[in-house]
Formats: sequence, C-alpha cells, structure tokens
Amino acid sequence: MTAKIIDGNAVARHVRGEWKKRVEALKVRGITPGLSVIIIGNNPASRVYVRNKVKACAEVGLHSEVHEFPVDAGEQVILERIEELNRNPAIHGILVQLPMPPHLEARRLLGAISIDKDVDGFHLYNVGGLVVGENNIFPPCTPYGVQCLLEYENIPIEGQNVVVVGASNIVGKPMALMLMAKDATVSICHIKTRDLAQFTILADILIVAAGCPRLITAPMVKRGAAVIDVGINRLADGTLAGDVDFDGVKEKASFITPVPGGVGPMTVTMLICNTVAAAERNAAKQGERVAVTS
Ligand code: GUN
Repeated sequence: MTAKIIDGNAVARHVRGEWKKRVEALKVRGITPGLSVIIIGNNPASRVYVRNKVKACAEVGLHSEVHEFPVDAGEQVILERIEELNRNPAIHGILVQLPMPPHLEARRLLGAISIDKDVDGFHLYNVGGLVVGENNIFPPCTPYGVQCLLEYENIPIEGQNVVVVGASNIVGKPMALMLMAKDATVSICHIKTRDLAQFTILADILIVAAGCPRLITAPMVKRGAAVIDVGINRLADGTLAGDVDFDGVKEKASFITPVPGGVGPMTVTMLICNTVAAAERNAAKQGERVAVTS
C-alpha cells in the first residue's frame, strides 16, 4: 500500500476560499475582520510565522497589523497594548507569538487577551471550554487544522484508535481533547513514553507532534493508518524533516501528511477562520444590542 499524500496547501486553499466568502459578506455590512499579532524579540522562526500570518490575512481580505516589541520589553508595556487592542473595535483577533522571552509570564499575557478576541485559543477560558466541550470557543489553530484535514479527507474519527505523540499545550493536549469530543479513543504518548511502538502500532490515526526528527518509523505504524506529522525540524544540513520517516511510512499508511506542505498551511488557515468567526460573533452581539435598545 502506498499512502495518499494529503496536500495541506490544496486543502488550505479550499478552506480559505470558503472563508473569503464570509469575509465578503461581512464587508457588505461594513465590517472588515482585523487581526493584531504581537511579537516580542527576534526569534527568526517566529518572524517567518508572523510574516505568513500577515500574508494569509491579505489573501483572504482581512486587516492585519503587527505590534513589535524588543526582546527586553517589560510586561506592563505589553499588557497596556493588549488592553488597547481589547478595546479597539476594528480588531477582532489578538495573538502573542510564542515563544516569548523567558522574563515574561506567558500565562499573564495570554490571560489578558479578551476571551472574545483570543483567536489562538490559549486563554484559560478557551482551554477550559475545550475540556468541557463548549461549542463557542476558539480551538487552537494547529490541532484545529489537523481536525480539518481529517474531515476534508473523510477519515472516520468516531470509535477510532487515535494516538497522539506529544503532550504540549499548543498541539498534543488540545488535539486529544478535540478528538475525544468526536468520540475517538485517544491515547497520549510523548518522548518519554516507554516502548512507544506498542502504542503507535494500535493507532488508526497517528498524530505526531514531538519535535523529534523521524521518531516514527514504518515498523511502528499499523498498516492502513492515517499518519499526521505536525513536526517541523531543521536538520544539520539545513533541510526540513518531520517527526515521521516519510519515505518508509508512506508505504504502510493509507494517508500521510508531508513536511513541509502538510499541517503547516492549515495552522495559518485556521487562524484566519477563528478571526473571521470572532468578527461574525461580534457583529451578532452588536446586532442583539441594537435590537434590545431600539
Ligand atoms: N508558536 C508556535 N505555534 C504557535 C501558535 O499556534 N500560536 C502562537 N501564538 N505562537 C506559536
């Protein structure tokens, strides 16, 4: 068996096209969805990610702005900017690019973002909403993108064995919660899991976000599994590699995502979706307010 290679760029293009129509509908009502991205310091990878977010916003018709702070910026000045953006009616989504410099308390900064504008889904309100299965939260963009890929490819989730390798707050944990909400049987493993293969071999859907190049090899994969590789690792020779040995595993899986060009384009796309959804919800709320006061 040779796996179907899931083209994340093509799925992202399709999803962006659908959401562009929603942006156009908002624009008819005089609303342009707006995203503010806060970046602190000079992390080169973060700069690339932020550039991609700005580019995607322009492509779908959103307003975006980048708020840059020096690496030694104090917490107060950033908190004040977040407060300003919380009050700004032209901004519907706010995110702080991670990682942030170590002197800053990430929880405090992320917690200052209005829950209605938390399009990264990192505020504890949105995290808790994911745990209890609240509908109206913003799902974190990378696992949301993986879920979208699975659904786009009509890969069944309900009742399936899902193994998530990697237990980060950004990917692994929310991914597990999202698929539990769809009635999958989910196991979470990580880099310290003893005999990782005894878990991965059971997976109908294997999602790997461990940050460890080529951690998953063909003997660790069940024949016919769908394998989603969230890892992006830069090797010593400058090339990119995922967490999955693509060439070996593609001969055994039924679906596989490449790196690059798999999950990556979906993360940015789901950020766009969350921002447009935030603008729509805000417009609905304003409408309700007008209806009550008139
Ligand atoms: N750094 C790596 N992934 C992400 C993400 O999804 N959001 C933010 N804000 N920072 C990140």
